[in-house]
Amino acid sequence: MSNYTKEINRRRTFAIISHPDAGKTTLTEKFLLYGGAINLAGSVKGKATARHAVSDWMEIEKERGISVTSSVLQFEYDGFCINILDTPGHQDFSEDTYRTLMAADSAVMVIDGSKGVEAQTRKLFKVCVMRKIPIFTFINKMDRDANDTFDLLDEIEKELGIATCPLNWPIGSGKGFKGVYDRERKCVILYSDTEKGTKEGEATEISLDETERLLSFIGQDAYDKLMEEVELLDGASAEFDLAEVQKGELTPVCFGSALTNFGVEIFLQHFLKMTTTPLPRRADIGLVQPTEKEFSAFVFKIQANMNKAHRDRIAFMRICSGRFDAGMEVKHIQGGRVMRLSQPQQIMADERKILSEAYAGDIIGVFDPGIFSIGDTICMPNEQFAYEGIPTFAPEHFARVRQVDTMKRKQFVKGITQIAQEGAIQIFQEFNTGMEEIIVGVVGVLQFDVLKYRLENEYNVEIRLENLPYEHIRWIENKEIDLDKLVGTSDMKKIKDLKGNPLLLFINAWSVGMTLDRNEGLVLSEFGKE
Ligand code: G4P
Repeated sequence: MSNYTKEINRRRTFAIISHPDAGKTTLTEKFLLYGGAINLAGSVKGKATARHAVSDWMEIEKERGISVTSSVLQFEYDGFCINILDTPGHQDFSEDTYRTLMAADSAVMVIDGSKGVEAQTRKLFKVCVMRKIPIFTFINKMDRDANDTFDLLDEIEKELGIATCPLNWPIGSGKGFKGVYDRERKCVILYSDTEKGTKEGEATEISLDETERLLSFIGQDAYDKLMEEVELLDGASAEFDLAEVQKGELTPVCFGSALTNFGVEIFLQHFLKMTTTPLPRRADIGLVQPTEKEFSAFVFKIQANMNKAHRDRIAFMRICSGRFDAGMEVKHIQGGRVMRLSQPQQIMADERKILSEAYAGDIIGVFDPGIFSIGDTICMPNEQFAYEGIPTFAPEHFARVRQVDTMKRKQFVKGITQIAQEGAIQIFQEFNTGMEEIIVGVVGVLQFDVLKYRLENEYNVEIRLENLPYEHIRWIENKEIDLDKLVGTSDMKKIKDLKGNPLLLFINAWSVGMTLDRNEGLVLSEFGKE
């Protein structure tokens, strides 16, 4: 096997999806700890500031230097080269959060054991399902009182529609948390509250056959309950099937406590054993294999620098095939130009470093003088193909935009179009009313403030936003539908995107179903394709 194939095959690139506060940051810190990337957990990001809901988005921008560097973390563990993609949450939840999942080969879903499946997890999960990537579940915070284990699994199956296969089983929770039962090895791993952030204090293991010893540690009640649950589980839960895991139809589940560092390394090991090497990617010439010799990549995220003094942007690319060498000439397909990527950088724990080489599966960030768009393809100069684009994700907040000074129409249109091209917002217009007014849709409300601020500061245009009550947008898949004959609901509104494609807005979720019922043959989608 050639050296570059070996490098590609040892790469594992995944995103962590969760609802804010479920423990994504804590779990990431622990992963890095095992990889030796950091000595003591706690330095992944400016925690205190990043965690608090920041109402003033400028505060987030002040941290932008930090959030940029923490967008991708690379570390080594047990011969694997691991790339973790950060999915921005909290206040800066935006379309970027979704797009990041387009660059991942698998996802780790962190669920708070006392909360179960929460809104943001549900949204991110849908994108994983669309991509059919493997999903691994870590049920966290078992050191706190958790919901019934069967109920938690039931909820994942019913709410998310994915079968679950617990690899281990918790014995109690909260103050009564005794550890987990490893189903494959048939042993109990005793809970130990290892000193926060250190690796020491490996947990004790007791085989299920050592009944006396086990009883002395966990007590009769916990033992009886465990035996009963294990029996039930063996009869009821889905059989483990790696092929189903890799298709994203079955999620392996582990229980633990990221904070006290229990169950994290076991989870990481299981995950690495079962997850996938870099996946092939679809292009207009067919599937491109990661181990193909020629370098290729696509842009999945563009981060604008909000600082007026630095108008540069960073384009994040996922390498899809081959090996990248700094300084080599590449072709930007959409721009039709051969070029060198400027200052390619990779992110290691909390520092950025200029990289000399990278492989399929890796993410690189390059300075972008304003030439890249989301979904663009970069390949070798002698090649000519384009990767499948990135879908547009459904915004959930809409507002009508009004210029304060109507004389500045030109700057306004230029500014708002450019910001939309970066992918921070989506813009729409009224459908066939002849009105020129612009409706803007965002995934996270913070983007409204960003839009207002950037238009004022970069384009000298003041705007007013009038919030609209719509929360659900649907793309019409079958273009032949006659929109004038469409029988909608009273809360439905027709709009169009900049290319003239019709879309529907709804205030209530049930109206979507109602409209589908009333119009035979209508096909609506939550994702917009190119
Ligand atoms: P997030 O990135 O998903 O938003 O979650 P994060 O890791 O920041 O964790 C959110 C809160 O939950 C933090 O507490 C963290 O310490 C706590 N936490 C994470 N994992 C566990 C766990 O396994 N058990 C328990 N009991 N708590 C956990 P915080 O009070 O907001 O922050 P801090 O003061 O601890 O830094």
